[in-house]
Amino acid sequence: MSSVKVNGKYIWGDIAESEIVRQYDRKGREVTCIQINDMYRSLYNVNAGQVPDLRVTLKLLQDMPMRADDILICAYVKAGTHWMWEIVNMLLKGSAEYDKTVKEENMLDFHFPSEFDDLKSPRVFNSHFTWRHLPREVHEKKCKIIFLQRNPKDTAVSYFHHMKNIGIYGIEGDCGDFIDLFMKGKGPGYKCWFDYTLEWQQFKEDTAHQVPILSLMYEDLKRDPVSQIQKVAEFLKVPVDTQLIAAIAEKCEFKNMQKAGHDKNEVHQSISNYHMFYRKGQIGDWKNWFTVTQSEEFDELMKQRMGKCKTKFVYE
Ligand code: A3P
Repeated sequence: MSSVKVNGKYIWGDIAESEIVRQYDRKGREVTCIQINDMYRSLYNVNAGQVPDLRVTLKLLQDMPMRADDILICAYVKAGTHWMWEIVNMLLKGSAEYDKTVKEENMLDFHFPSEFDDLKSPRVFNSHFTWRHLPREVHEKKCKIIFLQRNPKDTAVSYFHHMKNIGIYGIEGDCGDFIDLFMKGKGPGYKCWFDYTLEWQQFKEDTAHQVPILSLMYEDLKRDPVSQIQKVAEFLKVPVDTQLIAAIAEKCEFKNMQKAGHDKNEVHQSISNYHMFYRKGQIGDWKNWFTVTQSEEFDELMKQRMGKCKTKFVYE
């Protein structure tokens, strides 16, 4: 099996029928995915060439050489990774200026590990993978991990709009149809949210004091950016003063980042509508999309699936 990059597009090796999982939304529409390990990728997305063949890169990633000062931002899809990416880069540079690059350039999920060899230190990676897919050396070198979480109802709604607006996932249904798939854990990208969240919790418990992890919540960042940015600065051990923190908080306010996203439209090779990553930036938008019944079903599912989850999610 091989995987190559041609004219900026990743070409996957042959996919056997046995690797294909046919999933159906509540209206019976098929969402065709390939299952790779514990994740699903829609074939539509595979054919768009945005990501390399994960059957190849997941193995390569295990052996990726890490540097002790590498930093990883880990989060489920739509938990605010772009936001954290700008904050971390500003802190490292000591200046409230948007990074010239886009976070997708440093996304472990979207590249061959060798594509990162020439990046200057400290490298700031990001990923939607669980810990089991991260390079082994993350543990050995004790690389710092910032783990960001967001309430799952807003995550699901944001994820639907991402897929619809970015247009490379072949999503035909409406938001309600997608929420239904999300609850079944069968969204067409990555892994079931419930499994992802529990796995990370397990990792944090198992590796306490071995790997430095800072856990943050989207909702805290939204409500009190200054204190949360301060926490990130302390975790990364970067010198800051109150003026810099305030300037970063302001530059990273939703409206400002949305505008900056427009400016980045030219930078990203495969996504020309980059500003779409900044949609609404609110806590509680889920109320506009979940029906009362769906919300109750979701709450019930949370009780069933997430009894062991220690994170308290904030929904409004
Ligand atoms: P919405 O779709 O709810 O607006 P990710 O960066 O992981 O793809 O997450 C994207 C989500 O984070 C989107 O949520 C986006 O609007 C929100 N977001 C991005 N920057 C933000 C900011 N500065 N403040 C608040 N939310 C932000």
